Amino acid sequence: MEDYQHQLLMVTGGLICFCALVKCIRFMKYVLPYTWSALPQAFFRSLGEWAVVTGAGDGLGKAYSFELAKRGLNVVMISRTLEKLQRVATEIEQATGQKVKVIQADFTRNSVYENIEKGLQGLEIGVLVNNVGMLHNPLPCRFLNAPDVDENLVNCNIISATKMTRIILKQMEPRQKGLILNLSSGLGTFPCPLYTMYSASKAVNLFANVAQQKMCLEKAFICTFSKALQAEYRAKGIIIQVVAPYGVSTPMTMHQKPGLITKTAEEFVSESLDYVTFGDEIFGCLAHEILACVLRLVPLWVFHSDRLQEAVLHLFTSYLKKRWRKP
Ligand SMILES: NC(=O)c1ccc[n+]([C@@H]2O[C@H](COP(=O)([O-])OP(=O)(O)OC[C@H]3O[C@@H](n4cnc5c(N)ncnc54)[C@H](OP(=O)(O)O)[C@@H]3O)[C@@H](O)[C@H]2O)c1
Repeated sequence: MEDYQHQLLMVTGGLICFCALVKCIRFMKYVLPYTWSALPQAFFRSLGEWAVVTGAGDGLGKAYSFELAKRGLNVVMISRTLEKLQRVATEIEQATGQKVKVIQADFTRNSVYENIEKGLQGLEIGVLVNNVGMLHNPLPCRFLNAPDVDENLVNCNIISATKMTRIILKQMEPRQKGLILNLSSGLGTFPCPLYTMYSASKAVNLFANVAQQKMCLEKAFICTFSKALQAEYRAKGIIIQVVAPYGVSTPMTMHQKPGLITKTAEEFVSESLDYVTFGDEIFGCLAHEILACVLRLVPLWVFHSDRLQEAVLHLFTSYLKKRWRKP
């Protein structure tokens, strides 16, 4: 009996060590991206002449537009405020020498797509970044205390990604190449109280049962949409990837002070573009990959406990306020 217990412990220990080793090897690709799977210099340009970025006037969208132009693509920037778009477009053109086209659109309205499709006609589009998204309560708050903008949120955070993909994928398919990046959120990978609508719109959590945390991760809308689409179009040479950042210093996060976890938009985008061939779903940078791993170890009942929610409402709110910066 003792021998049997000893052997069982050895096998369990061995399995745990093996899993830890596999995880470490998985992380090596983020630590050494250039050795693991370096993208050729002309990778992005080889996909097509143009990149299209939604929500491109500020934050991550602006950073994606800049970085893709630096990597040799012309850029179509689509966003809400025309003056901001034109200012950033001029900056990018002057800094990179690439062409930049702007299209004004408010993605809370479903009538914008005809105009967008017209604006994109005749362009060879190699990269689409479904970046636009809104967070209507930057500070944590309970559902009934948040503004009622549910329909706008769904249109902007979900419908925009499916509509833009439909417009652009149909011209990527015959060319047998293309890259589609869908911005999700670390907060969308589990049912996140006090950011309920944002978390749901980024994840569309089909499982209300809190025990099904891992299932939620897999069943999230943007994740499910991207992964299913990737399975359909991988053989046609098209890469579709979900990017789920945690904290990035942008207007959405009230320009939180960058640090170990909170990245600047430029840092985050430049790192995450090096990982576009690293799988269907990434957190975008090494720090967020590690954070996601740590958070997965915390049982969901801890996040959902009343005590933690109270603490988040008070302590996290004042922590966030202290780290807000003027742009
Ligand atoms: N920042 C983070 O920490 C973080 C973390 C996880 C996920 N994300 C996701 O990453 C994406 C980008 O986030 P961000 O922080 O860069 O956002 P942001 O700072 O709020 O900037 C978003 C840009 O999108 C535009 N925009 C907002 N609503 C729009 C609408 N309805 N129609 C058209 N354009 C609109 C804004 O236009 P204006 O120029 O008119 O303001 C702005 O240019 C989002 O999908 C977000 O959910 C961000």
